[in-house]
Amino acid sequence: MSASHTITHPSFGQMSADRVIIFDTTLRDGEQSPGFSMNLTEKLRMAEALATLGVDVIEAGFPVASKGDFESVHQIAKNTNGPVICALARTGGAKDIAAAGEALAPAKRKRIHNFISTSPLHMKYKLRMEPETVLDLITTGNTAARNLTDDVEWSAEDGSRTEPDFLCRCVESAIKAGATTINIPDTVGYATPEDMERIFSMLRERVPGAERVIFSAHNHNDLGLAVANTLASVRGGARQIECTINGIGERAGNAALEEIVMAMRTRHDQYPFTTGINTPGLLKVSRMLATITSFDVQPNKAIVGRNAFAHESGIHQDGVLKNAATYEIMTPESVGWSRSSLVMGKHSGRAAFRDKLKALGYGDLEDSKLNDAFSRFKDLADRKKVVYDEDIVALVDDEVRDH
Ligand code: KIV
Ligand code: ZN
Repeated sequence: MSASHTITHPSFGQMSADRVIIFDTTLRDGEQSPGFSMNLTEKLRMAEALATLGVDVIEAGFPVASKGDFESVHQIAKNTNGPVICALARTGGAKDIAAAGEALAPAKRKRIHNFISTSPLHMKYKLRMEPETVLDLITTGNTAARNLTDDVEWSAEDGSRTEPDFLCRCVESAIKAGATTINIPDTVGYATPEDMERIFSMLRERVPGAERVIFSAHNHNDLGLAVANTLASVRGGARQIECTINGIGERAGNAALEEIVMAMRTRHDQYPFTTGINTPGLLKVSRMLATITSFDVQPNKAIVGRNAFAHESGIHQDGVLKNAATYEIMTPESVGWSRSSLVMGKHSGRAAFRDKLKALGYGDLEDSKLNDAFSRFKDLADRKKVVYDEDIVALVDDEVRDH
């Protein structure tokens, strides 16, 4: 299951086999999704927040794409301390690689990430290139990038739909030319967990030099499998995960950072890996991104959605009040919430109602008053979708006054 060897990485030094590098691409792949673009100030704020969160690599942008992107990468490289700062470039574009190197110049630790498509479909229709030309470009592109920094990542775009023998040849060429991280994206979110585990295991087994590099997973969410595919990739030997805050990204998005990190932490029994993420900071960064982009996180989103630790049904509320572990698999505090929330609605029970009254400062009401207030609360809850604290205060004040 795990990559048994340790490797020496140009940016991270000696790495133990259970350490997973968190490569955040919120500012590059995330920002590429419609409506999610950010200005320079916003990107700098996000980069700072990601550094505080403890991500290992920040992919800051695609410098050749626009002057704005160049400037953002440059300013993040200058001002954000801690993580490796990474810039994207096309493998075949000498200009791309030069622009990436220039934009990254002020960074203390920098990575050039170059990519080219390797699937038959992409090579034929998008690149209009023969496979041998792609192989040549992989050599020249990675050599050029390696002349600018020791930390070079190469990606096989549409890697999960690439013919296995050809993928092995591409990866071998990239390693020979100096790439230190090899990323196999599931660009269109087509793969299953079984596919991803198999691809990484195969590459590690078959490609000469595989033991010297870090393999990386980059999964899109078109079938809702991005997180599952990422965990499977780690099982196959990937030790870098490419992900975004709130799972934003092209089309249905990228794998969500907060979900992968908490899956590995909560199910450490099956995923005995560590990351450098300071998990109580997750909610804050998620909220910051939502505010900056004006896109709310869906209420039922794992970890950071408004309902992730909210309980409305009476049976669940009663269980949580007795022992939160009955219905919570991680503590709300471990990801940045101050506490679980018992939402008062028509499904709520007497135990939660009593607890709410205590929290609102009413102490212990005598049983008959509690029963009356509870029955009036149920009537109200049948009429209203959510019963707010103010409604309960009004209702209990009436009760206390009337008797
Ligand atoms: O999804 C993808 O293939 C990418 C590459 C550029 C890494 O985002
Ligand atoms: Zn992508």
